[in-house]
Amino acid sequence: MGPFDWLPHAPLEPLPLDWLKGVELAVLRLDRIDPLISGNKWFKLTEHLALAQQAGAAGIISLGGAHSNHLHALAAAGKRFGFQTVGLLRGHQQDTPTVEDLNAFGMHLHWLGYGGYRARHAPEFWAPWRELYPQLNPVPEGGGGMAGARGCAVLVEQVRGQLSNLGWADYDGWWLAAGTGTTLAGLALAEAGARVVYGALAVPDDHGVAQNVSALVHGGYVLLDASRGGFAKVDPVLRDFIDTTEQACGLPLESLYTGKALLALKQQIEAGRIAPGTRLVFVHTGGLQGRRGFTA
Ligand SMILES: Cc1ncc(COP(=O)(O)O)c(C=O)c1O
Repeated sequence: MGPFDWLPHAPLEPLPLDWLKGVELAVLRLDRIDPLISGNKWFKLTEHLALAQQAGAAGIISLGGAHSNHLHALAAAGKRFGFQTVGLLRGHQQDTPTVEDLNAFGMHLHWLGYGGYRARHAPEFWAPWRELYPQLNPVPEGGGGMAGARGCAVLVEQVRGQLSNLGWADYDGWWLAAGTGTTLAGLALAEAGARVVYGALAVPDDHGVAQNVSALVHGGYVLLDASRGGFAKVDPVLRDFIDTTEQACGLPLESLYTGKALLALKQQIEAGRIAPGTRLVFVHTGGLQGRRGFTA
């Protein structure tokens, strides 16, 4: 498999919203890098794919849920670049728009049930899958780990290269949704403390994100709860915020990650916790394919 020399370019755009109170905001549109391989996923995969290629693997085996943005991007990449993909899915077989795409992209699926999926962190979890698919390299949930984080460092260069389009000489920090915290860790590694990376947690505290991130990077970031009562929990305030934002500036958001992250920024600004004049880059981490399963 490989080599993978596709390095998509993410546009950086001003984000003029009426609640910024003097904070300056731009959005890095990872949702616009490609119609299928969208968001932070390709960046988290690049180093995993390079490792698989070096190991002489024929493809990748990974895990996720029935709406997984990670599996969706992985399956699309496998189809486009011609490598095998296998997905281990949470729960019992169901048809979602995402699952239909995974099948159409040629990903081979196994449904693990809920208990089977919960065992994914156990030391013996991968052994039977390695035996069944010795030609594939395993990639952790969400494309995580140090390889996933390293692949995101290039986003810092992409932002720096576009600051002049905004008339910005510099910026003060990043704002983005955190699920596993891998993308946030990658940005914090690349910034090396020069700018702060704010991670708006899409999952509750007990998901171990703080431990994940601290295993990858020391300092330079802040984690805030943005989960609004639980992963994938949607409330009317959030729904209204997503609609209003799209109407105000055309930015499409979804309710699991990007909508919650931007709403958390609004709340921090309203609470006076971000000083006027602060320049922030909000990362649109994609996930719009997942909206189909929730609006249907
Ligand atoms: C749309 C979207 N945004 C953000 C994230 C969080 O990224 P990370 O797991 O690197 O924190 C994910 C997946 O986990 C996602 O699908």
